[in-house]
Amino acid sequence: PKKETITVHFVQSDGSKFSTTAAVGENLLDIIIDNDIDIDGFGACEGTLACSTCHLIFKQEDYDKIPDKPTDEELDMLDLAYGLSSTSRLGCQVVLTKDMDGLQVQVPTAVVDARDPS
Ligand code: FES
Repeated sequence: PKKETITVHFVQSDGSKFSTTAAVGENLLDIIIDNDIDIDGFGACEGTLACSTCHLIFKQEDYDKIPDKPTDEELDMLDLAYGLSSTSRLGCQVVLTKDMDGLQVQVPTAVVDARDPS
């Protein structure tokens, strides 16, 4: 059977938009990597919840559709992210569901690696 896919829109920090289709069950970090979306420093820890570089900002309506609420570990990492908002998540922790079709995520203007001591 054909894999279920949805459309995801990214708004990059310079305002440019990029849309792609993505398979249900993938996380947003995978999609950014699969599409060679070049965001400096993004996904530095490869989804092991040890950085915060995969920070993405959601629209409220999309945020509400994410079935998994952030874990304490994710919230701790998010605290370190640049430009944290009330609808922020770490991309590597957000798995796509069919319901999230048409999702629009904003890439923050800066990436901070929580492992960077500076
Ligand atoms: Fe490091 Fe998501 S890629 S926390």
